[in-house]
Amino acid sequence: MSEIITVKAPVNIAVIKYWGKRDENLILPLNDSVSGTLDTDVMCAMTSVCARPDITENEIWLNGSRTTFDNPRLKKCLGAIKSLAASQKSVSDEFLTWNVRICSENNFPTAAGLASSAAGYACLVCALAKLYKVTGDVSSIARLGSGSACRSVYGGFVQWKAGVRSDGSDSVAVQVVDSKHWPEMRVLILVVADTKKHVSSKKGMKISAETSELMQHRIKHSVPRRTVEICDAIRERDFETFAEITMKDSNQMHAVVQDSYPPSVYMTDISHRITRMIHTYNDMQGSPKVAYTFDAGPNACLYLLEENVPEVLCLVKQMFPSSSNNFVTGLPLPKKMPSKVDFPMEPFGTDLLKNVIYTKIGDGPQVVKDDHLLDQQGRPKRYV
Ligand code: PMV
Repeated sequence: MSEIITVKAPVNIAVIKYWGKRDENLILPLNDSVSGTLDTDVMCAMTSVCARPDITENEIWLNGSRTTFDNPRLKKCLGAIKSLAASQKSVSDEFLTWNVRICSENNFPTAAGLASSAAGYACLVCALAKLYKVTGDVSSIARLGSGSACRSVYGGFVQWKAGVRSDGSDSVAVQVVDSKHWPEMRVLILVVADTKKHVSSKKGMKISAETSELMQHRIKHSVPRRTVEICDAIRERDFETFAEITMKDSNQMHAVVQDSYPPSVYMTDISHRITRMIHTYNDMQGSPKVAYTFDAGPNACLYLLEENVPEVLCLVKQMFPSSSNNFVTGLPLPKKMPSKVDFPMEPFGTDLLKNVIYTKIGDGPQVVKDDHLLDQQGRPKRYV
């Protein structure tokens, strides 16, 4: 049997959003996107894989329950890694005939709508790449699982190039800067208390691509210019430019969603209160100190520099009072926190936010030694 390989992989949060596909099957995007990779010590997916001659069929456990392998995206990822292994002759022909067992967990709630599929597929593909000893870029294989997963294959800030080829061979992720480049960068994820089911990003993107005129303007004009500008801002550590582009791009993605027919809505009233709070705060400061961005759900992701974390955290707590005694999790809290921020708005109401996750930019997927989710017989440790 093979050894057991375990990998942990990060979540990423886009600052230039991927919204719309040019090829549904190969998951090729209509535009470039850029994201920050988040620290795996705070949030990560973890996946163990093994291959054995005595496993009668491919098996997968996700967050504790056995799930069907009959999922086209999953099969595509495994198939692509195996054909790469065959062409690189990285393992024996016999090894390639064995079935695999996969066990994967997220250390954060999947239901929170926090880019769990990106971390999950990046983790799966990196673990399989290690198992089959393939070398080279695997972002285009992670992309087959979930588009945004290709950006979780690298740390720091990452650009997913849309590419132009119809076979997708140039639709890959590249690192813009590594995790050490901008060490002061921090992220606060404001998890909105919300139980509403939202239109999936897959469906929402399809409707936008088919119906939104604003989307055409976005793809042709806004994103190409913003991608160059934000990558420059990241390289130069120019927070003001970075923040302004991040907010404008999120706003535009959600405007495209509204411009779609029928329209979808991901941001809620609470999301809009967060944007108002951030704009008021930035106006008070005289320049953008915090940038918000929203994915296909109501949660806000705030990018800010470490020096502003104490005041902004205090502001969030002041404006969104919580009865939870575990309201802020993640990195250790700043030692000195102000007790109050002079702010021209009344608190919005208690328990509108479920919790806040405090994190930072981090590295790409890492191999984990001696902490596997599968035992030596290749069985899921915690569920049998
Ligand atoms: O990779 P998907 O299909 O989950 O799409 C993600 C799309 C957004 O999160 C809304 C934007 C992005 O670039 O991550």
